[in-house]
Order: sequence, then C-alpha cells, then structure tokens
Amino acid sequence: MLKYPPQMRGTTEEARMNHIPTSTRYASLSISLHWLMLLLIAAVYACIELKGNFPKGSDTRELLKQWHFMLGLTVFALAWLRLLVRIVKPAPAIEPAPPTWQNLLAKLMHLALYALMIGTPLAGWLILSAVGKPIPFFGLELPALIAPDKQLAGQIKELHELAGTAGYWLIGLHALAALYHHHVARDNTLTRMLP
Ligand code: HEM
Repeated sequence: MLKYPPQMRGTTEEARMNHIPTSTRYASLSISLHWLMLLLIAAVYACIELKGNFPKGSDTRELLKQWHFMLGLTVFALAWLRLLVRIVKPAPAIEPAPPTWQNLLAKLMHLALYALMIGTPLAGWLILSAVGKPIPFFGLELPALIAPDKQLAGQIKELHELAGTAGYWLIGLHALAALYHHHVARDNTLTRMLP
C-alpha cells in the first residue's frame, strides 16, 4: 500500500521518512562534468563556426578544424563517463515535485542530449575515417572506424550537420527549461546542478 500522497512520492521528504539516504544535489562529479562539457561543447561549436572567417587552406582554418575534432572527441569520451556516473548515482528528486508529464519530457530531453553528445562526435569520427583523413587527438592519431568511402562520407556529413543544428535547439531548450523551473515553478531543479 502507498503511504504517501502522489505529490510527495519520490521526494526527499518521503525518502527521509523511510530512512533512505537522500541528497538534494547531483553527485559532485556529475556537476563538474556538466559545466565542463558545456564549455567544451561551446568551444566545439565556436571552432567550426569561426573557421568560415578564414580562407581555405590557411593555417588558422586548419587549426580551428583540428581543435573542433579534438574537443569533439573529448566530449565523446566524457559523455560515457557522465552516463556511468548518472547510472551509479541517480538524479536527486525535484522539490516540489513537478507534474508527471514534465518529468517524462525531461527524461526524453536528457536522452536526446546524451544521444547528441555521443552520436554527433561519433559521426564526426566516421566522416574523417570515410574520407581517409587522420583523426587527431592531442598528439595521438586515433584509428579509422570504417574504410574510405567518399559517398558514405558525404551522407554521414549531412547527418553530422543536422545533429549539430539540432544540438543548438536542444541545448537552448534545456537552458530555458532550467530557467523556467528556477524563476517560474520555483523548484530546486537548477540548484541541484549548481557548483
Ligand atoms: C559535440 C561534438 C560535436 C558537435 C556539436 C559538432 C558540430 C558540428 C557543426 C555544427 C558543424 C558545421 C556544420 C555546418 O557547416 O553546417 C560540424 C562540422 C564538422 N565536424 Fe563536427 N561536431 C562535433 C564533433 C566532431 C568530431 C569529434 C569530429 C571528428 C573527429 C567532427 C568532424 C566534423 C567535420 C569533418 C565537419 C565538416 C568540416 C568542414 O566543413 O570542413 N565533429 N560539426
């Protein structure tokens, strides 16, 4: 039998009364990774957007591309670590608890953000593999994932660009939702993730 009214279920109050250890904040590693990855993703976007200001073949344009690749691959590696921490240490409950439809929407959004952080760099890695170019990673060269195939490279590039555009929207909506929770709903959604 359920001991608590629906609005209290899953809250830290319910857990406290059941003597379950609770936290009102994300794990500190999750918080560090969240803000570090925000900076990294902003830099990945900045490198590729700024590259257009420099002539083809120029050193600066090439350097910006190399940094786009290397920082993007860093996002790829850290996303797996972040996913692991998230599985081991579940997210703390939001107080007061939002309606079920909002929780569902948030879950879908977070899933889409993880797909973006893993799928987009993976597609980038596949593009470089398919055009037969080296895959740089801070002085190392990563292996190609597939054999050279110009046509396939073009198709994956289109997907990568689409994912990049979707990323702007997803990240923007994610930030707006956090501000809505903080200033309108006035719950602890944002403070759980603040450093
Ligand atoms: C979070 C990770 C990443 C994001 C959000 C991202 C996003 C983008 C965006 C927005 C573009 C420009 C698309 C356009 O011109 O319309 C782009 C281009 C590109 N990206 Fe990424 N990217 C990421 C990671 C990577 C990685 C890891 C690699 C390769 C190792 C890579 C390889 C490329 C390539 C080859 C291009 C085309 C560059 C050109 O036009 O010469 N990306 N990416």
